[in-house]
Amino acid sequence: MDPGCDLRYQRRGLERENFMSGHGTAIPMTARKSGPLKGRAEVPGDKSISHRSLILGAMAVGETNITGLLEGQDVLDTAAAMRAFGAEVTQHGPGDWSVWGVGVGGFREPEQVIDCGNSGTGVRLIMGCMATSPITATFTGDASLRKRPMGRVTDPLALFGARAYGRQGGRLPMTIIGAKDPMPVTYTVPMPSAQVKSAVLLAGLNAPGQTVVIEKEPTRDHSERMLRGFGADLTVEDGPEGRIITLTGQPELKPQTVAVPRDPSSAAFPVCAALIVEGSDILVPGVSQNPTRNGLYTTLVEMGADIEFQNPREEGGEPVADLRVRFSALKGIEVPEERAASMIDEYPVLSVVAACAEGTTVMRGVKELRVKESDRIDAMARGLEACGVRIEEDEDTLIVHGMGPGGVPGGATAKTHIDHRIAMSFLVLGLASQRPVSVDDGSPIATSFPVFEGLMAGLGARIERANK
Ligand code: S3P
Repeated sequence: MDPGCDLRYQRRGLERENFMSGHGTAIPMTARKSGPLKGRAEVPGDKSISHRSLILGAMAVGETNITGLLEGQDVLDTAAAMRAFGAEVTQHGPGDWSVWGVGVGGFREPEQVIDCGNSGTGVRLIMGCMATSPITATFTGDASLRKRPMGRVTDPLALFGARAYGRQGGRLPMTIIGAKDPMPVTYTVPMPSAQVKSAVLLAGLNAPGQTVVIEKEPTRDHSERMLRGFGADLTVEDGPEGRIITLTGQPELKPQTVAVPRDPSSAAFPVCAALIVEGSDILVPGVSQNPTRNGLYTTLVEMGADIEFQNPREEGGEPVADLRVRFSALKGIEVPEERAASMIDEYPVLSVVAACAEGTTVMRGVKELRVKESDRIDAMARGLEACGVRIEEDEDTLIVHGMGPGGVPGGATAKTHIDHRIAMSFLVLGLASQRPVSVDDGSPIATSFPVFEGLMAGLGARIERANK
């Protein structure tokens, strides 16, 4: 295997030694102006679906088989957590895993602290699925995850009868004492968050009666699709306040065979790179086009992107297509606010594309970006400014003044703040800017896209580790 492919999350090893120290080994990286990107980019499995296959597999009775599982550090941490709660999780080959589940309500109490690393999805979903069992678990994560708010999940879990004791501001480390006699809950999710919605649904699995979740704006619907796939009784209807999801508790979940489709959020990096590097023409096969996830692609097409959606089909219960992407002269647009939830993880790389477009791109209704792995509005604004791009921002808005193809000066080092998507976004920018763009730490890329370096090099991208 190309050693460049094996971008390990070096921070983790050190963190395990100096427990919760947060001092890892950074991997500075640099991207340089590259020739046309050409070829085929097979991106890894979807992160959201990978977490959920392990978790639902652990809550089913019997053996779930998974192919195409993302083997990024975030998902490996969820696999380790499911083992700690009593499931048997085995890797048979690359992406090929099985989970022997213990059934809804069958979790045992973990003996150790559950370390979810960098993963907000991992920790919030796992808190949900243990909160209605009579067990206690303590959760922690890396320096990024320990800053993120958990109250958005522990508030609704308290309605089921679970108790949470964490640091100030609802931060990790945090102990959850699961409810002995859980009550079903009706909960309106106050912010657009699939993690919160999913945590409540997973908690509802072990509560008697019907748990109802109302979301004002639709967010990614993998939990709903997969819960149904595993045999839960779940209905979705549109009401005056939004989507009403009703789950009947205490089902016996049936083990499944899950084929994880490729991740549209990871595909965004080679796709956006090809759009801004002159002369590029690439194929990104089998990318999920789930309508709750494909806002970026709609936006790019509105900006004038040349993307062909070839061979639309269904794989693993999700709509997928092969994306043929060619370099394009793009123009700035106003991204509709109501599209935010369907492209929430893609705003960092969209802001890079916007910097290389003609005209201004306005992104409103994006304040959720401030509570991701980093404050992504701030991280992108500061890094883009350092690269010579004019930015305007407020709490809920990011505006990028485009400099046209080849117009971004570059020549700066962006801080990634332990955030994989910030690291990859600036490395994509460096491929099309006049001078190189560096990142202070590329090691978090391994949380979601461990083969990023090798895959991009295969297309002709000049991305290197600074200390090679
Ligand atoms: C995810 C939901 C989103 C997203 C994250 C994955 C999920 O987070 O940003 O990367 O798998 O449910 P929020 O629920 O905080 O919006």
